[in-house]
Order: sequence, then C-alpha cells, then structure tokens
Amino acid sequence: MAGNAWRSTVSRVMGAIKSPQPKTFSRGIQTVTLIPGDGIGPEISSAVMKIFEAAKAPIQWEERNVTAIKGPGGRWMIPPEAKESMDKNKIGLKGPLKTPIAAGHPSMNLLLRKTFDLYANVRPCVSIEGYKTPYTDVDLVTIRENTEGEYSGIEHVIVDGVVQSIKLITEEASRRIAEYAFEYARNNQRASVTAVHKANIMRMSDGLFLRKCREVAENYKDVKFTEMYLDTVCLNMVQDPSQFDVLVMPNLYGDILSDLCAGLIGGLGVTPSGNIGANGVAIFESVHGTAPDIAGKDLANPTALLLSAVMMLRHMGLHGHAKKIETACFDTIREKKVLTKDLGGNSKCSEFTADICQRVQDMD
Ligand SMILES: NC(=O)c1ccc[n+]([C@@H]2O[C@H](COP(=O)([O-])OP(=O)(O)OC[C@H]3O[C@@H](n4cnc5c(N)ncnc54)[C@H](O)[C@@H]3O)[C@@H](O)[C@H]2O)c1
Repeated sequence: MAGNAWRSTVSRVMGAIKSPQPKTFSRGIQTVTLIPGDGIGPEISSAVMKIFEAAKAPIQWEERNVTAIKGPGGRWMIPPEAKESMDKNKIGLKGPLKTPIAAGHPSMNLLLRKTFDLYANVRPCVSIEGYKTPYTDVDLVTIRENTEGEYSGIEHVIVDGVVQSIKLITEEASRRIAEYAFEYARNNQRASVTAVHKANIMRMSDGLFLRKCREVAENYKDVKFTEMYLDTVCLNMVQDPSQFDVLVMPNLYGDILSDLCAGLIGGLGVTPSGNIGANGVAIFESVHGTAPDIAGKDLANPTALLLSAVMMLRHMGLHGHAKKIETACFDTIREKKVLTKDLGGNSKCSEFTADICQRVQDMD
C-alpha cells in the first residue's frame, strides 16, 4: 500500500475529520476558541494567527486562558469563560499546557478531555518531504479511545504493598470509537482500518473492544477491516510503516503507538492532532509540551500547531485555505533555507513564520 499517491488529491497530510454528529459550519467569518497555553504556547499561537491572517482565513479568534480552578464542592474545573466559549464555538485550537508536578490538580489536558467528552484522539502521521527521517513513506492515522481503558483513574491499595489499577472497557465507548474510525476512513478515502488489541491476554476487556470493532466493521463493507496484536503492530510498524492505514485502539495502546508513529515522521514538533468530542465539539492541538527550556526565546517550531490548525480548517470545510497554508509550510521545510533549530536550521520562530506568510501571499 506504499505511496498512496491518489490520496494527494485529498490532502498530503490530513484529510477532513468528520464526526458522526458534525456541526454544520456557516459561510463567512467563524469564531474559534484559542487556548494559547503555557511556555512556547503564546509564541506558536501568535505564529499561527499571523499565517492565518496572511492566508485571509475567515477565522476570528476568541482567546481564553485555561488554568485549573476549584468549583463548588471542591471539584477541579476549567474557567467558566473558557467552557462557555467552547460550548458556543464548538471548535478550539490549543497550544501546550503545563502540568505542574504536585500542583494538586489534575492535568489540564485531562480536564479538557473530560469536560468536553473528547473521546477520539486523531493523529495523522505522514512523512514530510525534505525532513529526513529513516522512513519516507509513512501515511497513516492513529485513532485512540480517549476516555477510559487503562486511564480510567480507578486505582486502589488492596493490602499494603499491593495496588490494583482497573482497566475499564465499555461496550458504548468501544462502539463509539470504532464507528468514528470507520467514518473517518470512509470520509477520507482511506482503504482500511486495523483494530489494535491484546485480546489473547485480556480476553474480556480487549475482547469486548475487538468484538465491537468487528460488529461495526459489518456496516462498512467498503472499508477493509483487519485486527492485529499490539506487539505485532509495533514490530511491523518499525519494519515497514507503509503497510498501515487507519489504526484504532484503546487508550494506553493509543498513547504509546501515536507517539511512536510521530517519531517515524520526525517527532512531536511536526505532528498535528485533533480531539473529537460529543455534540460536535472538537479541539485541535499540538501534542508536544510547553518546552520551558526555549520558551520566550523565539526558538520554537510552530509546525505542529500550524498543521493542527490546518486539520481544523478541513474539519470546518475550509479546504482551500487549508491547502494553501499546508503547501506553504511544506515548501518552507522542503527548501531548507529557513528552518528552526529542531528541524536542523538556525532560524528563529519569527523568521520561519515570516517565510510561510510570504509563500501564502505569493500564492494569491
Ligand atoms: N499537550 C500538552 O499540553 C503537553 C504535552 C506534553 C507535555 N506537556 C507539559 O509540558 C511541560 C514540559 O514537558 P517536557 O519538557 O517533558 O516536554 P516538551 O515537549 O515540552 O519538551 C521536550 C523537548 O522538545 C523540545 N520541543 C518541544 N516542542 C518544541 C517545539 N514546538 N519547537 C522546538 N522544540 C520543541 C523542547 O525544547 C525540549 O527540548 C510539562 O509541564 C508537561 O506536563 C504538555
């Protein structure tokens, strides 16, 4: 399945994400909630805003800070202004958020996921021309169940020295993520979906997940369905990633495998991501951290957030603007003249951004 050249008519990197209950977006200027985040977040967010402006993308930003606050009853929550903005706009773009160790509150990323029931994490991993990695033909998408599994947060001490952690798998969440994966494959002209599991060991939990995937597959005869053990996927992935297309899996496997796949195309600095939720909500985000070591120094690479924003544009049906920005970004990387340090260059974030802006304007 290497190459998949025909797919380039859809997108070189990422196609439209269609949620099973998508929001209908109107024409004209649309408002998006922007959570710039911490550390390098504000710098890379500002880069994205500049590029969007240069591309005349019909988006206006509603900036919101997200810090953990304690609500009634002592429950941690995101600030009401951020929640209201997301509830209204349905679409968000988010930079990295720091999770201070021993801060007493849960990870903000986790809180956002819970607040908006962001059940599907989608990461397209496609080789970037001109950015050398050991692989040249990666073109796959990982779809991770985001709400339960090993990350249910149910842990307890049974007796001193014995701790139990519950892996929670439900029929409903398994069916929902399987349906999302098949819908995604169909909407993005992807040929196959592989369910990744360990049902040979976790017969009941992964067994249920796999059963739901098989059942859902029955309704999508146009998409090829395969199932594979997680360990076999890891082995085959590093040997020849071009054999994979869409992969769907429970939470922990998805966490690990999606980072592994990001590594195949050059790391978290160039990998976009989208989190799809119930009721048409979606938050697109860079998956790298706040990079405190380079924050405020104009050294950050905005590519991951920019490509996440491109994914967002496609989700909103703004394919022309998405293509323009994506092409400009890849052209800048391919030409290698203006690259940030992590991409092997010496340029500042502002110079990299300016180069993309110029290319976008030159396309008019
Ligand atoms: N999605 C998220 O919001 C998210 C993800 C991971 C970590 N974090 C948080 O970020 C903080 C720092 O985490 P960390 O140091 O483990 O990981 P990190 O991703 O912030 O940094 C790891 C290394 O990668 C570099 N790097 C990361 N993004 C870069 C970019 N866009 N351009 C250039 N270089 C980049 C950093 O400079 C650093 O050397 C922690 O508080 C952590 O909780 C947030």
